[in-house]
Amino acid sequence: MEGPELLRLWVLAALALGGSQATVLDHHVLPDLRLSAETGAIFVHELERELFLEAFPGSEDDDAPVTFRAHLWDHPDLPRWLRFTQRDPGQPGFLYGCPLGPELGTHSIQVLAYNRHTFATVSQRLLISVTPAPGGDAPFQAEFLVGNRNVEELLPEAAREMFLQASAGVWERGDLHIINVTSALDRGGRVPLPIEGRREGVYVQVGSHSPFSPCLASAVSPQSRSRCHRGQRPLASCYDTFAPHFSIRWCNLTLLQVWPSPTTPGPLWGSGELEDGGGFEPPTEVVPRELLPGFLVTLLVPLAVAALLCLLLGHLMCCRREGVEKRDLQTSDIQLVHHSSIHGDTRELRLMAGSRDVPRPLSTLPMFNVRTGQRINPMPGPRDGARVPLLPQ
Ligand SMILES: *[C@@H]1O[C@H](CO)[C@@H](O)[C@H](O)[C@H]1NC(C)=O
Ligand SMILES: *[C@@H]1O[C@H](CO)[C@@H](O)[C@H](O)[C@H]1NC(C)=O
Repeated sequence: MEGPELLRLWVLAALALGGSQATVLDHHVLPDLRLSAETGAIFVHELERELFLEAFPGSEDDDAPVTFRAHLWDHPDLPRWLRFTQRDPGQPGFLYGCPLGPELGTHSIQVLAYNRHTFATVSQRLLISVTPAPGGDAPFQAEFLVGNRNVEELLPEAAREMFLQASAGVWERGDLHIINVTSALDRGGRVPLPIEGRREGVYVQVGSHSPFSPCLASAVSPQSRSRCHRGQRPLASCYDTFAPHFSIRWCNLTLLQVWPSPTTPGPLWGSGELEDGGGFEPPTEVVPRELLPGFLVTLLVPLAVAALLCLLLGHLMCCRREGVEKRDLQTSDIQLVHHSSIHGDTRELRLMAGSRDVPRPLSTLPMFNVRTGQRINPMPGPRDGARVPLLPQ
């Protein structure tokens, strides 16, 4: 089949699959979206399916499955601090992560939405500007393991608010904020069995500027830890305000106190332009190094040693050789006679063997019958060789 015809068929097939002629090969671009994030606090952006479903060109299907992809603008991957999750094409996607000091600045992310019914795509550029947190990093951090949630169920705003209210109940402080949300699978957790109600588990890191409450402190006390090791519940000195929405694994609670590290003065960034009058001065030239002595030493010393060894060996082999005469002088005459007679006999036998003219022993010939003396050609004849008896009857 010719190339153009093949291409036409392919396009027709794509049209038929797509269902709608207008949407195939169509790509729509949504206006840029500016978002802001603070260091040391969770950033969550929900990719709503509805927004992208409306934008799909010529789409009347209001419930089409949508798959999202996200990556840095002009780069294949996301920045290190940002993660993406979407459970399945019927669910929204989430971009989430906790930026830190090195991530200050603007991050440009491209989101691609892909309609799995019509193959149409929509893209959007997100400009996330990361600013420093006004109060600095929270020095008191607690990490809870929520056993009955998947990570995307704790990312929506409402769920995070509910979690903060519940944690305010055990921490007894008002300035709590969520620092990080991580699926337990990312920390070596196991994929749950596909049973209704089983979830992966989520680690939620909560930060505050005020110290831990006695309740939290008692949950990580040595007594509680040893009870955990024996498989019992840790000591509870207060009411679990997380129940019944969130089931906290109290044995996996971690409390962390971060001391603000003294900031080391880094290099000061200028404007990127040289000041007036300050011409660029290239580094001074390097003095050419003297390499000859090193070269001679590496080459000459091994050569000299090798030559010395050669001379020594030559002297030993040529001038110190004592030879056959000395050996003969030291050997008794009777032994010498014995030796030379053996030599002579052997040489004679060899000569005789070379010129012998007797037929080869029969046993070295092929297929010799001892009784009849008959010989058979071991190579099968033109007939079926497998049926020829080895010994004639
Ligand atoms: C947030 O959690 C992820 C995954 O565990 C980790 O890689 C990242 O360093 C955490 N960020 C902060 C600020 O703790
Ligand atoms: C919770 O902590 C226990 C030990 O106290 C550990 O064996 C278990 O793996 C932890 N669970 C998760 C999901 O990290």
